[in-house]
Amino acid sequence: MSSATGRIIDTILPEIIDLRHELHEHPEIRFQESWTSRRISDVLTQWGIPHQTGLGKGTGIVASIAGKPGKTIALRADIDGLEVEEATGLPYASRIPGRMHACGHDGHTANLLGAARVLLECRDALRGTVRLLFQPGEEQGGGARYMIADGALDGVDAIFGLHGSPLFPAGAIAVKSGPLMASADFFRMVIQGRGCHGADPASAIDPVIVAAHITTALQTVVSREVDPRQPAVVTVAHIEAGTTTNIIPDTALLEGTIRSFDPGTDALLREAIGRIARHTAQAFRASASVSFGEKPYPPLVNDAAMTELLIDSACRTIGTANVVVLKEPQMIAEDFACYLEKVPGAFFFLGMANEPDVPYPSLHSPCYDFNDKALRTGMGVMAELALRVLSTT
Ligand code: NI
Repeated sequence: MSSATGRIIDTILPEIIDLRHELHEHPEIRFQESWTSRRISDVLTQWGIPHQTGLGKGTGIVASIAGKPGKTIALRADIDGLEVEEATGLPYASRIPGRMHACGHDGHTANLLGAARVLLECRDALRGTVRLLFQPGEEQGGGARYMIADGALDGVDAIFGLHGSPLFPAGAIAVKSGPLMASADFFRMVIQGRGCHGADPASAIDPVIVAAHITTALQTVVSREVDPRQPAVVTVAHIEAGTTTNIIPDTALLEGTIRSFDPGTDALLREAIGRIARHTAQAFRASASVSFGEKPYPPLVNDAAMTELLIDSACRTIGTANVVVLKEPQMIAEDFACYLEKVPGAFFFLGMANEPDVPYPSLHSPCYDFNDKALRTGMGVMAELALRVLSTT
């Protein structure tokens, strides 16, 4: 890290950590991030960073740090929490029942504010404009699309973003060129049977049996229908039917997720899930209606040149040993992919793990907490990257 950047970070780090904890105490889910949005706006105002609020369905913010005339790059953080009951027992644990920053977006937000503060202090060296995107509704909201619709990418030449990852050590980042994360969509099926007394199965069309058969049959989609060289996932994650021990219900509900990297595989998964559900139900005299999400997340594909710049810049900032270049993509998804469909850029993972042999709580777990030790790395990599990209493109 340049000594100037390092010095600024050392000075502001306690303030950024406090801010992160404050955000952690106030998790809000998709498009309801009004407290969070106000707090971010207050901080930006306090620091004299011009910004526009009310974007991306109401709680998104776009801010701008203008240096000398030049290109514009965007840095993005997601700001939403999840419907999870926190179990960390931390002094700054969620104050809102059933809501938690279980994906660490509190850390992403604090990190971007920290990077912004560094860039503000280095504004004289900035050859262009850095736009800060505070995006709502990443978790199942597709907030990126609403930010884009509100002009967040207008005039932007490149975009970068990050996500905390327990798979890599704090102090490190991980990235790869090309596909980094999968496309994601969900499916929902309602099995219509005929309910009756649990002691009279012959009078029923039992949707529980049908749900069980469909769940089992769906396991053959990836194993028997998808080209084994293509990564794909079909997960049934939610089954619901019935109310008690002696009533066969009328209906059963199945929900799950599908992941892949190319449109052909995605189409195959959708066709196979629909076919298996409908025909299996039919075989048992029931029927199944199947629907998919209206706005699936596309695969996240990093631009080769921008990834190269990111890796090069990060190696100078945190040392080559701390920059992990991945060989394989991951099956998780991110709506940052929507930005990358519009402008070149790169997304990277920010390491969270403390000890190599001690597993860090997984994302979305009630025990997950963004690691404050990663903030110095995240802020430094983001700020130095912005300075570098604007001076080389
Ligand atoms: Ni997340």
